[in-house]
Amino acid sequence: MRIVLLGAPGSGKGTQAVLLKEMYGIPHISTGDILRQEVAEATALGRKAESFMSGGALVPDALILEMMESRLLQPDTRRGWLLDGFPRNLAQAEGLATLTGRIGQKVDAGVILNVDPEVVVRRLSGRRVCEACQAVTNVSEMHSGACPLCGGKLILRLDDEPEVVRRRITVFEEQTRPVFEFFRRRYDVIEVDASRSIDEVTEALRRALDRYDHP
Ligand code: AP5
Repeated sequence: MRIVLLGAPGSGKGTQAVLLKEMYGIPHISTGDILRQEVAEATALGRKAESFMSGGALVPDALILEMMESRLLQPDTRRGWLLDGFPRNLAQAEGLATLTGRIGQKVDAGVILNVDPEVVVRRLSGRRVCEACQAVTNVSEMHSGACPLCGGKLILRLDDEPEVVRRRITVFEEQTRPVFEFFRRRYDVIEVDASRSIDEVTEALRRALDRYDHP
């Protein structure tokens, strides 16, 4: 099964991808997670990406496409994948179509997580990430100040500061929303109301995705 998760910042792409990865046994490939790891390790890519990310802008397409080509050629992608955070604009969408054609991998479907703008702002201001294991949670679900999975320290992502969130939403509307139409024209598309609870969204996705081949 090869699925592309599309949606605004805070629509729940990462949250759902972690659950679907377990459900279907396929890798979750998040460009945001890969880039944050590169920044943390101060690699050449991380040093180039950092200023774009902290300002809420997109990292240049050439860097992203090169990074994705190398990731999609890893052996674990033979079982399928869930892409999260890519493609982010029309050039990347064309790049994905070209790349998958060249390496013989077919996109089965795009999943569009539709969510109201006020929900996005509330979720992102409440999001916390574990410094130790990178688990994502929300202040609305927290029973203590520690990570529910490993007890680690929870922190605010730097790009979840309100001013940067506003910039990311503008970038989404201008550059990423047109990708929805690209997908509607080219692939099967599943649209889900992602303003509902995490469990309700997962159940809607499971019902829609079960028909695609998975290991
Ligand atoms: P990235 O990490 O991809 O950020 P994003 O797309 O802005 O998405 P988010 O991670 O903010 O949101 P999400 O939809 O995953 O929501 P989540 O599940 O965490 O990208 C970061 C940066 O990297 C970009 O700005 C850019 O600079 C760069 N970048 C990445 N990819 C790139 C690319 N392809 N090209 C160029 N640059 C790129 O949920 C959010 C919160 O809500 C959590 O607290 C969660 O617990 C909660 N929540 C989730 N679902 C629900 C629900 N149903 N009900 C209640 N709460 C919920």
